[in-house]
Amino acid sequence: MPERLTPEQSYALVSKYGSPLYVYDETLVRERCREISGLVSLPFFAANYSAKANTNIELLKIIRSEGLRVDAMSPGEILAETAAGFQPDEIFFIPNNVSIEELRFAAERGIMTSLDSLSQLEQYGKARLPRRVAFRLNPGVGAGHSDKVVTGGKSKFGIETKDVRRVQELAARYGLSIAGINQHIGSLFLQSNEYLQAAATLFEIAAGFPELAFLDMGGGFGVPYHGEARLDLEELGQKLTRVIQDFISKYGREITIMVEPGRYICAESGTLLGTVHSVKENYGETYVGTDIGFNTLMRPVLYDSWHEIRFFTASTERRRLTITGNICESGDVLARDRELPLPAPGDLVCIANTGAYGYSMASNYNLRLRPAEVLIDLSGQDRLIRHRDTYQALMRNMLDEALYLCQ
Ligand code: LLP
Repeated sequence: MPERLTPEQSYALVSKYGSPLYVYDETLVRERCREISGLVSLPFFAANYSAKANTNIELLKIIRSEGLRVDAMSPGEILAETAAGFQPDEIFFIPNNVSIEELRFAAERGIMTSLDSLSQLEQYGKARLPRRVAFRLNPGVGAGHSDKVVTGGKSKFGIETKDVRRVQELAARYGLSIAGINQHIGSLFLQSNEYLQAAATLFEIAAGFPELAFLDMGGGFGVPYHGEARLDLEELGQKLTRVIQDFISKYGREITIMVEPGRYICAESGTLLGTVHSVKENYGETYVGTDIGFNTLMRPVLYDSWHEIRFFTASTERRRLTITGNICESGDVLARDRELPLPAPGDLVCIANTGAYGYSMASNYNLRLRPAEVLIDLSGQDRLIRHRDTYQALMRNMLDEALYLCQ
């Protein structure tokens, strides 16, 4: 685990902002942005940050200041991105299975949209919406850390290569101009073979579309959660540069070529702090009960994801531990079989690499409050960038009468 937060600093942050607490390191977010922007040094190369990984507006502002653009999956993401200063031509709307109203929401703001199926392309074609659109290709090859996040090949995403001809037919029928093609083969790869293979398919398909302004090869760049070797960005960059140059010379003019990483930008910048509330033995197992339930960090429960966990404790006795949250399900387990110092109630727990798909997947299950978010800025100062939920906000959408209970 990176030694970013010292025990003293962590205790001070939790006593100032409450527990649990997401803490982000601005320096590292900026570093990762620069690595991605420099992946390919061609003037028409661009990086889209995939905002679903973390939509905190202050982080979005930092990412924008590093020169990245953004994708959006929903009107909510478009609003957060707009609030962070992104201009319509810096936002790419890539929704999946949405209503015409959502498509109109983006169109009215002048935001380029990608259609994810022939069905949505046809609905779009019939509606009175801008004629320049993009579509999402499913290149037939996927990669990712779990079946739940592999999107290339058999999945609900995109239009398969054999149906591309029908995209051209629909575009001709409805007078649409195909301005871009995007794809995303899945999330978290540390070897780039499939990504490069899919990029080759994308370039092949793109040759049949003469009016393109951009191609988007997708994200998925992994970070090591469990000591794996880092993704070799230098090698990937070199290989991409070659295939991009080759494509551009065949295509006959320069168009924007994008990548779209989410996790890579912010995963490692985030640390989740929480508090140990109970330690007990049940049927031969030692359970450490914390306030980090799967409402706060869902990845371990949803994907069996491994995150490094550390206790800030005075204890030196090591034990094999099962570390759990405070949610009403026995599956609410952050980690099993971790040999760690046995903490005591009141000690802090620290979970690494939680800057991506941590807060953004948090929920109010069990009517728990989502935590606050804090940024450690470039000068090392901490700053609140999202308030913890309030009970008022939880009640408001259901029953105004219940508000008095929250006074
Ligand atoms: N572009 C599109 C269209 C996507 O759907 C995604 C992620 C990305 C880019 C960025 O992927 P990344 O670079 O972050 O891998 N909740 C899961 C990950 C889900 C990814 C969904 N789509 C997790 O916690 O591992």
